[in-house]
Amino acid sequence: MNEKILVTGGTGYIGSHTTVELQKAGYEVVIIDNLSNSNIEVLDGIEKITGIRPVFVKGDCTDIETLRKLFRENPGIKGIINFAASKAVGESVQKPLLYYRNNLNTLINLLECMPEYGVKGIVFSSSCTVYGEPDVNPIDETAPIKPATSPYGNTKQISEEIITDYIRSGAPIKSILLRYFNPIGAHPSACIGELPLGVPQNLVPYLTQTAAGIRKELTVFGDDYNTPDGSCIRDYIDVVDLAKAHVIAMRRMLDGEDTDSIEIFNLGTGRGLSVLELINSFERATGVKVPHKIGPRREGDIEQIWADPKKANEVLGWTAEVPVDDTMRNAWAWQCKVCGK
Ligand code: WQD
Repeated sequence: MNEKILVTGGTGYIGSHTTVELQKAGYEVVIIDNLSNSNIEVLDGIEKITGIRPVFVKGDCTDIETLRKLFRENPGIKGIINFAASKAVGESVQKPLLYYRNNLNTLINLLECMPEYGVKGIVFSSSCTVYGEPDVNPIDETAPIKPATSPYGNTKQISEEIITDYIRSGAPIKSILLRYFNPIGAHPSACIGELPLGVPQNLVPYLTQTAAGIRKELTVFGDDYNTPDGSCIRDYIDVVDLAKAHVIAMRRMLDGEDTDSIEIFNLGTGRGLSVLELINSFERATGVKVPHKIGPRREGDIEQIWADPKKANEVLGWTAEVPVDDTMRNAWAWQCKVCGK
């Protein structure tokens, strides 16, 4: 019998790609999403790729009775992957209470339901933002957690502590915390991808919209950093590689292969790329020029961060595989699909 997994925020960017990989691995997926930052049509894209339409519940995880109803009506859920969260750094500074209420109440409700309905494990979508500005790169899981630089980042840090404290209190559950670096790209089928609402805050969607002529010009936020070409460095990880890591983590928990009740993994390529290098990769991979200019630094940006993925490579047996040019090509194919090019 296929094990059943609840994916919260499953019509979102990483949630939809993870749903595809879970289905390909033989899991039955139930999605709950309030559609505040995604479209229901994503279900069609998932079904086009795998031939399986996931069970979908429109609902808000901040209401525990909504969750209890979902668990009652979908018995046998063994694991949860929690993507449901607000995730715009800038917006979190303007609306901190919305971020604390949404992100923390969602997690607390899920944790409370797990023992009530026999759910064994939860994979938590965390972020490298918990490290702040690293003292050294590459950064591994033993690096110090720095004071958060945004309410969004703080919700990730607090969420990790909530899970840790709950497990330490004796809760009969397990958890794997996945600290993502910078997820980018789209599924190679161009059936699903990133669908930012409004003006994209993140680099790659703004880049592809500029290449498509939707945006006039991409501004590179600063070229006076202490990096080889002056622009910021990040560890850009293909979204399909990232999704596959979630399936491995879930299998590890459900098979009882994890030694501790809580494990933490950095998910990155181990390669730092600058903004200008990523623009070059896109232009090389697609042959499409990206009109761009150098502008002032963006408040809150850190200069450089990239992962040491050794623990995920050795313990999970997972490695990021998609070359960045392929990722850029997939991102472009998805952008062309979305804007009907
Ligand atoms: C990347 C680089 C910008 C836009 C954030 C969150 C992180 C995660 C990913 C949710 C930076 C530069 C960007 C533009 C630019 N979010 N840039 N022009 O800030 O590294 O990470 O998003 O999980 O938690 O912190 O990602 O894509 O916004 O920026 O030059 O128009 O691109 O300065 O150096 P970031 P980003």
